[in-house]
Amino acid sequence: MRSRVIIEPFRIKAVEPIRLTTREERLRLIEAADFNLFALKSDDVLIDLLTDSGTSAMSAAQQAALLSGDESYAGSPSFFRFEAAVRELMPFRHILPTHQGRAAEAILFSLLGGAGRVVPSNNHFDTTRGNIEATGAEAHDLVIAEGMDPENLHPFKGNMDLAKLDAFLTRHGAAVPCVMLTVTNNAGGGQPVSLANIRAVAALARRHGRPFIIDGCRFAENAYFIKMREPGQGDRPVTAIVRDMFAEADGMTMSAKKDAFANIGGWLALNDDALAQAARSRLILTEGFPTYGGLAGRDLDAIAQGLREIVDENYLRYRLRTSAYIGERLTALGVPIVKPTGGHAVFVDARRMLPHIAPLEYPGQALAVALYVEGGIRSCEIGTVMFGMKADGTETAAPMDLVRLAIPRRVYTQSHADYVLEVFEDLVAVKSRLRGYRIAWQPPAMRHFTAKFRPLEG
Ligand code: F0G
Repeated sequence: MRSRVIIEPFRIKAVEPIRLTTREERLRLIEAADFNLFALKSDDVLIDLLTDSGTSAMSAAQQAALLSGDESYAGSPSFFRFEAAVRELMPFRHILPTHQGRAAEAILFSLLGGAGRVVPSNNHFDTTRGNIEATGAEAHDLVIAEGMDPENLHPFKGNMDLAKLDAFLTRHGAAVPCVMLTVTNNAGGGQPVSLANIRAVAALARRHGRPFIIDGCRFAENAYFIKMREPGQGDRPVTAIVRDMFAEADGMTMSAKKDAFANIGGWLALNDDALAQAARSRLILTEGFPTYGGLAGRDLDAIAQGLREIVDENYLRYRLRTSAYIGERLTALGVPIVKPTGGHAVFVDARRMLPHIAPLEYPGQALAVALYVEGGIRSCEIGTVMFGMKADGTETAAPMDLVRLAIPRRVYTQSHADYVLEVFEDLVAVKSRLRGYRIAWQPPAMRHFTAKFRPLEG
């Protein structure tokens, strides 16, 4: 019998209750949080789609691995299990554990950054950009034009624009300490990068004599997109595709909070011996001894086991089907989204859904607050609130006003997804009544985390 439903490829052994609240309670709670979803207590959230980072459900095998964690300060067997599991997929010479992805970025750019340096990527994630800029260097985004058009159905919207990269490398020469590439491209909607593009970026970097570093946070999702969409890749095992992706690179940064099913952790991997030695000295200063790097031995074991599970193709098929399912249903409801749906999240185009709310009245924030009030769903505005404030204190509309529904790994079932879709259905019916917001208070930088909002009168 052929089944068309792609089921969750696991059953549930431990459950965590989630708390139902009434609309009246939620109105009170969001007002007390100054209409900022980051200020909510997570106990007051029913379905938490704020991030897919660190929110995965561990497997029974990972829980068991926690108990084999060896907490020795130096030379722990947990480290060697972790190192072997990483190297099985990503054959780098030096693997340095860190407490999360941004710590790997901070170490890398403390060595490669500095005033006058410029670092290209498809799209730098905020913490990567932040760590580059904190050293006085500049971060540049060179994603293909299709990657910036929410309606364009290009299969690899995370690809680097190769002509732009070539021109960039020619123009800036030795001022480029490395070429970065984010897989999948989170900032662009979780869009994948093709193997052909990874190889072409690597070839350009080599030709210009620049190291090539992959931000591999969602490498397994990227590899499964390659398997599904790239000519000639459909019959290859995901593990082989992963090895091919990383064989092209001179190093990687990684957040194990994404595609390693861990609640904390990350790593910096490098091939260059001298650079790795400098990074290790830095690691000891800021993270810890190189065989634990800011993590407990048990965390290293959870990552090692998580890496074996993340490349399971039944899991990846279900994973990418989940976001596609939510995307298809939202489209059928007339909710505009970034297409095609990416791996870890569905991005709703709030500016197009709520055209009566001007960008500087924050349509993304309006939608995110409404999702919480109507359904207890927490999402994340990725638009003018997040990117609209310039360093000189002036404000302009971001290119898009999106709301990200990030999907924690192995946490929610299809009925949770159907519930989210019902809340959207209700919202579509009343969307013309939603109103924008003004900011009553904001900090000088990264305002989305702590800004206080007030609803505009309708
Ligand atoms: N790179 C990418 C592409 C990311 O998405 C993230 C985190 C990081 C680096 C930093 O890793 O959080 O372990 O320090 N993204 C999370 C998100 C926070 O919600 O998208 P970290």
